[in-house]
Amino acid sequence: MKLNIALLAGDGIGPEVIDQAVKVSNAVAKKFNHEIKWTPALTGAVAIEAVGEPYPEETHEICANADAVLFGAIGHPRFDNDPSAKVRPEQGLLKMRQKLGLFANVRPTFTFPSLIDKSPLKKERIEGTDLIILRELTGGIYFGERGRKDDGNTAFDTMTYQRFEIQRLAKKGFEMAMKRSKKLCCVDKANVLESSRLWRETVQAMEKDYPEVEVSYEFVDAVAMRLVQWPSAYDVMITANLFGDILTDEASVISGSMGLMPSSSVGSKVSLYEPIHGSYPQAAGKDIANPLATVLSAAMLFEDFDLTEEAQAIRDVVNKSLAVGMVTEDLADGGKAHKTSEVGDWLAGNI
Ligand code: IPM
Ligand code: MN
Repeated sequence: MKLNIALLAGDGIGPEVIDQAVKVSNAVAKKFNHEIKWTPALTGAVAIEAVGEPYPEETHEICANADAVLFGAIGHPRFDNDPSAKVRPEQGLLKMRQKLGLFANVRPTFTFPSLIDKSPLKKERIEGTDLIILRELTGGIYFGERGRKDDGNTAFDTMTYQRFEIQRLAKKGFEMAMKRSKKLCCVDKANVLESSRLWRETVQAMEKDYPEVEVSYEFVDAVAMRLVQWPSAYDVMITANLFGDILTDEASVISGSMGLMPSSSVGSKVSLYEPIHGSYPQAAGKDIANPLATVLSAAMLFEDFDLTEEAQAIRDVVNKSLAVGMVTEDLADGGKAHKTSEVGDWLAGNI
């Protein structure tokens, strides 16, 4: 197969972790006789510096015409404490999600047998966790009307959802549940928010089309608690943009390190693959960041092109690296901490 992949390294540790995913993907391509053409493009703070825009039109063209996008991270501390900054790297990510129509963010959470003791949570609670949070990504409070009034003394952000936005996300959730354990949980705040009541109403109306799927409805605050108490009780979860943002960071703790969790963002056209962690500026350029989340995001990419064996080869080699202790400092736990690039070389070499 020939794949044309847009490569958006972005900021902070983005370029370092992306490099490792490219190495591993190229090793997979070689082994299974595929051809990957990587097309790099600018995004994030580096794009603001270069062209004054975090998601330039040229980058959008490259992404829109690619078979898939592999993305590193976005964000720079220079902008975080400057409320007056007119343009922020994060806006690039939001614009990219919106312009590419990436309305569903797939964030799996699972445990690694060799890391089960590294999670801050008790082993017996997290064993067997295998869930997917399907986060709505192009609507809700991230994209609703916002602003200031009363001479700047009042600020507002609005959470707006249209029925079709909920339907298309829920459809993915139901389909995913059908392929898994046929359990779907709709996470909302319907006891307070009108938009959440529309979520419930919409999902309830879709239940009849998927009679085999057992659907539950839970409030997001309760889920925040149960997710770390009994994560194995969940399978496919669907939720609004902001709730999903928060719950997926929380869920990453289950696996033991945020540096492990991959994600994909899908819509109607091209899909994007990215680690769920951020740009981790403190580690940028030090060759210490964990590249596994990005490497596993590449596995999700292969999987979506029905290259199942290829995806499995990546997951297997990742598991092997964890088992033998070929890990970065976040997972070293007193053992030897390897460099980001060393881990990447090892993975590629062992494919
Ligand atoms: C994420 C990130 C982004 C988000 C930020 C960087 C805008 O936290 O992908 O989860 O909030 O969606
Ligand atoms: Mn987030």
